[in-house]
Amino acid sequence: MERPFPTVAVVGLGTMGAGVAVAVARSGRRVIGIEADQASAARALARIEEATAHAVERERFTPEARSALLALISVGHDLQAAAGADLVIEEVPEQLELKRRIFADLDRICPPATVLATGTTALSVTRIAAATARPERVLGVHFFNPVHSMRLVEVVRTVLTSPQAAEDVAALARELDKEPVAAGDRAGFIVNGLLFAYLNQAAAMFESRYATREDIDAAMRLGCGLPMGPLALLDLIGIDTARTVLEAMYEQSKDRLHAPAPILGQLAAAGLLGRKSGRGFYTYEAPGSSKVVAGPAAGLAGRVAGREVRSVGVCGSGTMATGIAEVLAKAGYPVLLAARSQEKADRAKAQLAKSLERSVAKGRLTAEQRDAALALTTPTGQYADLAEADLVVEAVAEDLEVKRELFATLDKICKPGAVLATTTSSLPVISCATATSRPQDVIGMHFFNPAPAMKLVEVVSTVLTAEDVTSTVLELCGKARKHAVECGDRAGFIVNALLFPYLNDAVRMLQEHYATVDDIDTAMKLGCGYPMGPFELLDVVGLDVSLTIEQVLHQEFREPGLAAAPLLEHLVAAGCLGRKSGRGFRDHARR
Ligand SMILES: NC(=O)c1ccc[n+]([C@@H]2O[C@H](COP(=O)([O-])OP(=O)(O)OC[C@H]3O[C@@H](n4cnc5c(N)ncnc54)[C@H](O)[C@@H]3O)[C@@H](O)[C@H]2O)c1
Repeated sequence: MERPFPTVAVVGLGTMGAGVAVAVARSGRRVIGIEADQASAARALARIEEATAHAVERERFTPEARSALLALISVGHDLQAAAGADLVIEEVPEQLELKRRIFADLDRICPPATVLATGTTALSVTRIAAATARPERVLGVHFFNPVHSMRLVEVVRTVLTSPQAAEDVAALARELDKEPVAAGDRAGFIVNGLLFAYLNQAAAMFESRYATREDIDAAMRLGCGLPMGPLALLDLIGIDTARTVLEAMYEQSKDRLHAPAPILGQLAAAGLLGRKSGRGFYTYEAPGSSKVVAGPAAGLAGRVAGREVRSVGVCGSGTMATGIAEVLAKAGYPVLLAARSQEKADRAKAQLAKSLERSVAKGRLTAEQRDAALALTTPTGQYADLAEADLVVEAVAEDLEVKRELFATLDKICKPGAVLATTTSSLPVISCATATSRPQDVIGMHFFNPAPAMKLVEVVSTVLTAEDVTSTVLELCGKARKHAVECGDRAGFIVNALLFPYLNDAVRMLQEHYATVDDIDTAMKLGCGYPMGPFELLDVVGLDVSLTIEQVLHQEFREPGLAAAPLLEHLVAAGCLGRKSGRGFRDHARR
């Protein structure tokens, strides 16, 4: 195929337009840059020169390549110049009337074959296309900021866009070394559609004082491996921009989960727009700075002292119990690993030994540390041995009756004042607590899998948990070098309550044939820097486990938008459970 679009006009050379102009010129194409007036054109040219000089300093390209590139870009302020382009990319401010006016003008100026693309984030491409007499040659091309390093491009087709125009623009994107994904015309497209609903829930979670901003952000970074916490990201994006995107999403979906959280409105009205104004959810050193000014002291400062913990018990013999025992033994605590039989306990200790061995092989642990941790771990088939433990963590089956029975047993066995913790991920901690005669000593310690590697622990206090019990667990996490975040006893705690609705939204997007599994995964990885796309993650977590968590969340909050997507239910019913069954959203057996 011929190289698509030898000459490209870029209208509006601000943050995005300047980046797009440089990216297109780098592919050897002629770029006609068009700004609003002479002064803006001069500023735009200076911006492009500065950005490319910076790229040379960073050794992203040579001085010669820069000169050649600059020679390909002309910058003016007469829209008529677009007549010479094969493709026009519009990157003016996010205002519908402005964009529609420009498209109407471009439609008059450009020959009929010219393709017109809008860079809009949240406006309707269809409404912009309707300002022209060539809607079949109008589409959205959504680059990400900063254009030079973000590889994703969403190519947005309306119901009228010709497949050829979309394919040509995707081919151009590939030539710019970008990864195009196909999306339909819906507010937010793929990435923002999934991202902003999640950011909005995080804002609402903060607003309801369920957890602190630091804890919400740390939970999502450490629990999901996200590059940034949601509140810090909202500050980076800009609170006003986030509201605009959410308003547009709500207008189309009428889903309450898209209605901007009231706190976003308050911050915006107060001029606290995030980093750019020096304050949003966090306070920054200066407007535009990324350096956060420390907030009120968090963690253990100002708390009551915890109880003394000299020895611990771990109940269970599965993955989590073994991992938690390893964490605590490595932190220097004598650990009783208690299972339903001596044999099960011995097997769990053998697993623990294997894991320690792997750490030694990888150079993460010395042979002495391995031996010390092993010497501290005693397997037992008798829960009665837990009588002297100062703290017991339970990691048995995720079944309320099983857990309640175990807590009743621990209540009889453990000494007064012992802290009793559950590592449940979706059952109410309070229901474990009320199975004992000492609910004030019961708390949640939600570890993540694999426990030795994952830094995060959600510390879940119920309405009855004693303050010094919370302190005890926070201190223990500190000694075990885990990052503790605090939250209340409600479904999903922090991480799952924010993660699973997002995964569910992705399933719904797929179910509605809005985008493909591969495109959605690619979009989230490249557009947000996520370590895995939603479908990769669902297949790893297990579709049955995911469905249960989504049902628990829906049951708790009764939010219609949280109802599990029927496609997920169907896959589970069909036995497609993800990697463990060989097939989930992808077929793993055939790979
Ligand atoms: N900034 C981001 O992170 C980001 C990311 C993806 C998409 N977008 C979208 O890209 C588009 C551009 O956003 P931006 O952040 O680059 O905005 P910006 O404000 O940085 O730049 C807009 C530019 O358009 C120029 N302009 C205004 N009226 C014009 C006219 N009539 N003719 C020609 N030029 C005109 C302005 O002088 C300015 O230089 C928006 O639709 C935005 O939603 C932004």
